[in-house]
Amino acid sequence: MKTLIVYYSLEGSTKMIAEKLAGKMGADLLEIRSVKEYPVKGPSKFLVGGKDAAFNVCPEIEKFSVNVKKYDAIIIGTPVWNGTIAPPVRSFLRDTLIKTPNVAAFACMAGKDPKRTFKVIKELVVIDKLVAEVSFYGLENRSDPDVEAKTDQLACCFDSIVTES
Ligand SMILES: Cc1cc2nc3c(=O)[nH]c(=O)nc-3n(C[C@H](O)[C@H](O)[C@H](O)COP(=O)(O)O)c2cc1C
Repeated sequence: MKTLIVYYSLEGSTKMIAEKLAGKMGADLLEIRSVKEYPVKGPSKFLVGGKDAAFNVCPEIEKFSVNVKKYDAIIIGTPVWNGTIAPPVRSFLRDTLIKTPNVAAFACMAGKDPKRTFKVIKELVVIDKLVAEVSFYGLENRSDPDVEAKTDQLACCFDSIVTES
């Protein structure tokens, strides 16, 4: 199964999980990059990003050359911002038609309630169910003890799905 891991990361946690997962699965990676730079320090870090997330802003993202349609399976990775997906991920999902039903997602967050984040991903992909929904918490302090088990779970989530080729 040809798998693409699409992710956005401001501070590196989502990127770290995406790269670990790509190594385990032999999957391709597509990093979503925002043209507008979101602040990483000070009060504006939460104000600017949090406001964009709250108002469902879709910032311009850099063009990419990956052909998403050629993949049998997609894993979407996002940090949780203001209880939902990061705005650059919203831009990607708004602009990219995902036709495969084999879609999984993971979220990196400080807290532990990613339900709305996965709900928003399903709405934007227009899919009833994700093959897997996995959340990682507190990675900035290395506090999630289950990173290996959770990345293994994601890496195997498409194993029972047979594709025509
Ligand atoms: C603008 C902003 C808003 C955030 N909002 C939340 C939130 O609502 N809930 C939460 O658990 N974590 C929140 N966080 C923390 C991030 O989700 C967490 O640090 C995540 O691991 C960052 O991923 P990254 O390193 O890939 O950017 C927020 C971080 C930022 C920058």
